[in-house]
Amino acid sequence: MRLLLTGITGQLGTAVAGAAPERGVELVPLVRGSRPGRVPFERAFPALAGAAVRGDVRAPGWGLPDPVLDELSRSVDAVVDLAGETNWAGSGRDLYTTNVLGARHGLDVARELRRRSGRHVAYCYASSIFVAGGALGHVAEAPLPPDRHRTAYEHSKWVAERELVAQHRPGDPDVLISRVGALLGDARTGETRHRNSLYLLAERWDDLPGRVLPVMRGARVDVLPRDVAAAALLDSLAGLLRAGPRPQPVITHLCAGERAPTLRALLEAARAAAPLSFGSWVRLVPAGAEQVLWLSANAERFLPLPPAWRNSLIGLRYIGLDRVMDRGRLADLVDGPLPAPDTELLARLLFALPAARRPVAPADAGLSRFQP
Ligand SMILES: NC(=O)c1ccc[n+]([C@@H]2O[C@H](COP(=O)([O-])OP(=O)(O)OC[C@H]3O[C@@H](n4cnc5c(N)ncnc54)[C@H](OP(=O)(O)O)[C@@H]3O)[C@@H](O)[C@H]2O)c1
Repeated sequence: MRLLLTGITGQLGTAVAGAAPERGVELVPLVRGSRPGRVPFERAFPALAGAAVRGDVRAPGWGLPDPVLDELSRSVDAVVDLAGETNWAGSGRDLYTTNVLGARHGLDVARELRRRSGRHVAYCYASSIFVAGGALGHVAEAPLPPDRHRTAYEHSKWVAERELVAQHRPGDPDVLISRVGALLGDARTGETRHRNSLYLLAERWDDLPGRVLPVMRGARVDVLPRDVAAAALLDSLAGLLRAGPRPQPVITHLCAGERAPTLRALLEAARAAAPLSFGSWVRLVPAGAEQVLWLSANAERFLPLPPAWRNSLIGLRYIGLDRVMDRGRLADLVDGPLPAPDTELLARLLFALPAARRPVAPADAGLSRFQP
């Protein structure tokens, strides 16, 4: 499989770059020409520097010139858009141009590659499980209705999905809309590109007002280590390419789904793993869904909050709602078990807890027989 891939320098893209070689997947990264303040692409990914093309998802055709499109059309099997504006407190304009226009332009690129070569070319867009907005209970892998609870970021991802479904015509490339769950760092190294709202929970642990977290009873935290998500993304894309043509875009939940731990279980796993890492404990206070959603979206209207705190508050809805993302369609595509992250591992990644140490046999030979 050879993929034209955007967003390789991001959290998910970095993990895809790591998972690709062992799956025999070749990547052609699409990278922005100007990335002020960032490590140059060639230095961050020396092995892929020669294969990269310049472009910008906000531009029609992602800004790819004709000769490059010709070249790509001969070898690329799928176009994968992982580029995103992921700052939840970002401007509506940036969210729209990158997340919505970028998604539409990506479908056009896949169409163009198909038109030039006559080959089957698929398109994959990374959406988010958080397009669910305020939905509770079981959330289906299907287009979702309007929802007044969506944040600006969630709304942009929802509009992108809606546009892809509405724009899809007979004979178009197969489309996979992969709704990605929250990502933590690499399961083996803990390395992370950035720290999303879940990490902010860890960072704000000692500053939580009143030492309370208002969440629904049975609230779940649907989160995956990024390498686990990347592997499942590549496997589901391979499944899409293996299967016959799809008349409609396929929507999947790339997340822990029914295996996502409750917030209570996650916190207890963290406390059990490293009791001395936490000062005073926080109390989970039962709250209704409306209260969690309202607080996470509106507190900034009454309290002057810096952007990091605004992001933390928005993140309350990602740990405070009782819902389960269905994964039936993901199971149809993935040839093997679905991601089922270990709760203790998630707790260790989230709170940067030290790895579990095997007990060492005591020096007293008489006692060593009690060691496992
Ligand atoms: N991380 C999560 O927890 C999470 C959860 C759910 C869904 N998602 C979705 O998954 C996708 C990837 O997320 P992520 O966390 O990996 O994002 P990220 O770490 O914020 O990285 C964003 C990537 O998009 C690229 N990009 C941004 N604007 C671009 C543009 N105009 N043209 C080309 N490339 C552009 C960035 O490149 P530069 O290096 O040039 O800035 C970077 O590689 C996003 O669509 C996001 O909405 C992520």
